[in-house]
Amino acid sequence: MNPSHPTPNHVAIVMDGNGRWATRRFLPRVAGHKAGVDSLRRCVRICAERGVSVLTVFAFSSENWNRPQDEVSGLMELLAMAIGREVPQLVKDGVRLYFVGERAGLSPAIKLSLEKGEAATAANAGLILNVCFNYGGRWDMAQAARRLVVEGKPVTESNLDAALALAHVPDPDLIIRTGGEQRISNFLLWQAAYSELYFTDTLWPDFD
Ligand code: IPE
Ligand code: IPE
Ligand code: MG
Repeated sequence: MNPSHPTPNHVAIVMDGNGRWATRRFLPRVAGHKAGVDSLRRCVRICAERGVSVLTVFAFSSENWNRPQDEVSGLMELLAMAIGREVPQLVKDGVRLYFVGERAGLSPAIKLSLEKGEAATAANAGLILNVCFNYGGRWDMAQAARRLVVEGKPVTESNLDAALALAHVPDPDLIIRTGGEQRISNFLLWQAAYSELYFTDTLWPDFD
């Protein structure tokens, strides 16, 4: 490891640009999301090799429900398919998978695949991979606050922090957004307080 460029402990990524990647190739947008899964597989492997402890990726935002219905259902199908196909290798590689986000709005079949993916990797002690799905930073803060109210705990920074959906990992050291937009789009609003930000025009399927 180069001491002037220490490996970040927790890297978070807004995987943006799949739709444009597909459109440029005259392909349907879902083809871009499929290519995005390939890119994520490479990224997980490289993070594990380089000694990153936690990788958190934004796969589907609370706002992504506003997309055309066929794209939303394509993304749901792709998620279920990707879990089925990728989990055996993740298990072998020691990756521990967490799905972070609101489950209530998801279909029973999707909820079941998320639970299966988490259960299959629950004993792993290597790279932690958080897949933010039906996630929004505002949703997370609101659910954390509601939880404190129910538990009768005072709303302090540390209690709120512990009630957030990412309480099992430290805050990200580095947040990357591919695809050229320089915004956060409701990702990790609380946890980004001191993260370094890196924006690149590279589209997510081309990122390495
Ligand atoms: C990001 O790629 C993936 C998801 C939001 C699911 P986009 O689908 O937003 O791709 P662009 O931004 O339209 O190119
Ligand atoms: C952010 O990308 C969400 C994900 C990568 C899942 P979007 O493409 O949805 O963000 P906006 O709409 O351009 O802000
Ligand atoms: Mg986008």
